[in-house]
Amino acid sequence: MWRSLCAVLVALLACLFGLLTFLVDPWITDPPRHHQVDVRTATDYAVTADQTGKLPVLLLMTEAVNAAMVTHALLVADAARPFFQVHLASFGGAYAKLLEESGFAYHVLSPVWTEEQTAAIYAVDQFESFSSPYTKEVLQEQISSSLQLYSKIAPSAVVAFFVLSASISARIARLPLFVDMSMTRETSTDPRAIAVSMPDSGVVAKLGLRTPLSHMASWLMKRLNFITPAFEAVAREWNITGIHLVWDLMEGDYTVISDIPSWAGVDAAALPPQVTYVGPLYGKLKKDIPKEVLQLRERATSEKQPLVWFAMGSSGQPPLVLATLRELLKQQPKWFIVAPVHALLAKLKINASDASAKAEAGLDSPQLYIPPELLPSQKVEPLCDLALTHGGQGTVHTSMCSGVPFVGVGMMPEQDLNIRLAVNKGMAIQAMKFDPPSQIAGLMHDLAHSPEMRIAASKIREECQEYTGEYAFVELIQQKLAGK
Ligand SMILES: *[C@@H]1O[C@H](CO)[C@@H](O)[C@H](O)[C@H]1NC(C)=O
Ligand SMILES: *[C@@H]1O[C@H](CO)[C@@H](O)[C@H](O)[C@H]1NC(C)=O
Repeated sequence: MWRSLCAVLVALLACLFGLLTFLVDPWITDPPRHHQVDVRTATDYAVTADQTGKLPVLLLMTEAVNAAMVTHALLVADAARPFFQVHLASFGGAYAKLLEESGFAYHVLSPVWTEEQTAAIYAVDQFESFSSPYTKEVLQEQISSSLQLYSKIAPSAVVAFFVLSASISARIARLPLFVDMSMTRETSTDPRAIAVSMPDSGVVAKLGLRTPLSHMASWLMKRLNFITPAFEAVAREWNITGIHLVWDLMEGDYTVISDIPSWAGVDAAALPPQVTYVGPLYGKLKKDIPKEVLQLRERATSEKQPLVWFAMGSSGQPPLVLATLRELLKQQPKWFIVAPVHALLAKLKINASDASAKAEAGLDSPQLYIPPELLPSQKVEPLCDLALTHGGQGTVHTSMCSGVPFVGVGMMPEQDLNIRLAVNKGMAIQAMKFDPPSQIAGLMHDLAHSPEMRIAASKIREECQEYTGEYAFVELIQQKLAGK
């Protein structure tokens, strides 16, 4: 009996240890800070920038399965237009159409992500699965396709928006690599930042486990390497060393952070020279405000009711989004709501342009507008009084720069952290994705009755004005290429 128990225990420990070594490298005693990949490729594959054109070529590679990454790439592309011949590239994805229609030279690289792989990218990103879509075969093809493009267009630099294989391909071609990130390795793995992302109302905080758990999570995060073995293997084929942790794939020769140091709680003076904060990069669609929105604004003002911005981004979970929207309509039937969630509802087979489908889904209200297309949120949100959003960085930054207080429901740890930073600034309330929708909608009532949060939000809007985002990004590229 005792022996079999022992055996079970040993097996369990072995399993746990197996999982641990799969997810992280437990043997690193002192995980590197911001690191530089030690490039040791032969010069055989080096690409020399094309000097014949009037302007140098700049290649922006973006992960088009993600709306935020496409948005960032297009913002930088527009800002770079006066100084570079801008080329865009992606491995396809739901948002590739925006790249295609952008008017810039656009290259589809291979292999194009399948729907299954896209779902896997999201699952891995949200820590809901550990089956990586970045297999050795996929990476080899991505790299060979990228190298072909590099030699064809001869860029002066590559800018990667979550294109992880660029960490290898750009190094092979010896092209300077700029990487767009939402936060630094240090912020992402800082125990204080992790503790902050856990809400006060959560079980963890109530049991007093916030500090020990955040230290444990930090230890693990600093050593995270569960998707890297395939990258390491491919890098080895090209004699590139230095790629070992997940962070090594997300940092470039120059890492550009789309945030404001004081918002992230970072001392800008203490940053390594390879890291630069440029300020918020959030979508600025060049469209007019639809008349439906202006009508709701007028009615809300005359009826002295709030106008709500309800936006859940591309990572929002459709059932949660639907349930929360329904609850909000039920609890606050007099409020006015602009909810750009058409695409999310379509995933539930609800056609929000169809009145009867909308009624069937419990969304039948003349106070609610669900636009059929994306809205210029930088113009619409400032017209609103309150917001209910997921914690995507772009969404949170749009609220902060619009001066609109919000309730945030994070879909992943990084989003919880974004929301928490706004909570600490006194302009937001944090909800959790496991909270019942009625409770999430209920928090909107608290928000509507807090003049303090409205005041805090308008102060934050002023801080935002000091940063130029995509323009600072392009200026940095120019400086680094000029060797400054
Ligand atoms: C890697 O290095 C080895 C040994 O120096 C060399 O034979 C090989 O050609 C290199 N591979 C590449 C892709 O540069
Ligand atoms: C949704 O409904 C509208 C209005 O009835 C219709 O014009 C549109 O084609 C429908 N869309 C889809 C995808 O079924």
